[in-house]
Amino acid sequence: MDLDYEQTIRDSSGRTIPVRESASWSSCETVDVWLLSGTVTTMETAGKRFSLSLRDPRVSRKRMESGMGDMIRWGILGTGKIAGRLAAAINSLDDADLVAIGSRSSERAEAFAREYDVPHRFDRYEDLVTRSEVDVVYVATPHVFHERDTLLSLEAGKPVLCEKPFTMNAKEATTVIAAAREKSLFLMEAMWTRFVPAIVKLREWIAAGAIGEVRVFMADAGWAHPFDPMSRFFDPALGGGALLDVGVYPLSMASMILGTPTDVSSLMTPAPTGVDAQCTCSLAFADGGVATFTASIVCKTPREGLVVGSEGSIRIHSPINHPEALTRITQRGEAETVELPYLGNGYAHQVIEVMECLREGRFESDIMPLDESLAIMQTLDAIREQWS
Ligand SMILES: NC(=O)c1ccc[n+]([C@@H]2O[C@H](COP(=O)([O-])OP(=O)(O)OC[C@H]3O[C@@H](n4cnc5c(N)ncnc54)[C@H](OP(=O)(O)O)[C@@H]3O)[C@@H](O)[C@H]2O)c1
Repeated sequence: MDLDYEQTIRDSSGRTIPVRESASWSSCETVDVWLLSGTVTTMETAGKRFSLSLRDPRVSRKRMESGMGDMIRWGILGTGKIAGRLAAAINSLDDADLVAIGSRSSERAEAFAREYDVPHRFDRYEDLVTRSEVDVVYVATPHVFHERDTLLSLEAGKPVLCEKPFTMNAKEATTVIAAAREKSLFLMEAMWTRFVPAIVKLREWIAAGAIGEVRVFMADAGWAHPFDPMSRFFDPALGGGALLDVGVYPLSMASMILGTPTDVSSLMTPAPTGVDAQCTCSLAFADGGVATFTASIVCKTPREGLVVGSEGSIRIHSPINHPEALTRITQRGEAETVELPYLGNGYAHQVIEVMECLREGRFESDIMPLDESLAIMQTLDAIREQWS
């Protein structure tokens, strides 16, 4: 019997537990689904109440036949801010093991290894990617090195999760995708937003027609960084600028909701280094939908999103890149807010997706497919062409 667990799983206090997917159910003793949060004790369906016994509510998962072991071993390239967050997320999962850190400096590798309990540390990225202890590489270097470091890993035979933006431009994206496909290796852009429970729910609501036909998407993504010409935010040599750093979040969301735009229009104001300190972008889609977003690296904006349909709208609560709540508003103004907390710091969900793909022997994620990452890079190119 197929059950929709989203509707039926509750915890001991009666709260509905978000789950990743529906699954086949044949016994009332074990259930083969991957829970996102909470501890399930009972399940109700068709008026019946069952007891559940899960090995570990968070990581109980399908048995895969891909050759990947139960434990997936991660290596990280780069020791910066986001590398630390991913390290914490990997360490929070029982079926993931952070085994190697690669840095340009032995001191930074050592410090990172101590902080996140990593057994192998390397002061050259090349040395990490060739190690047999590493099953998958996470690229956490500045955007300008995404193509280089992804190719380095793929050429060494390692699947890759690469930070956003996927690359600097569509040409580089085409190169890394071709390399992954030629070598039959998994590759995914680390667009973590797509995997948090609130955005999973957003896709479900839209697909179920909860707000009718989607016509408008609007969002803003602004973070205030003090001006430093040497920082990756402002240095053109490190791929600085608001569009690539944070504009990619609302653009990726527009792509997820409305598809690839047919027309773009954009304005930007430069920082003293010439990169876009702020930009505003408008997109038009073949089916008549429109989207607009603003990105900034010089001020903190509300960081919210709004999806407007023919029969209502959905507010994506702040912060747009990792929301934990949505509000559905009917045409008459009735509002329903749902809280959808994520695991830990929110990054574990994309780690789980990568590991599920690897265990299933898939080369890309259905949720963040490679052709869509390429299309997003093409739109980012088209937007920047407007500024020249
Ligand atoms: N998903 C998210 O929420 C999120 C958040 C922030 C950033 N990001 C993305 O992650 C990437 C890294 O961002 P970050 O904030 O972590 O940057 P960061 O703090 O500056 O760290 C980048 C790391 O890359 C390595 N690196 C290699 N060559 C470098 C160079 N020439 N200059 C500077 N660093 C170099 C460095 O590690 P070693 O010196 O140890 O090799 C450095 O620590 C960016 O593409 C960004 O868009 C994503």
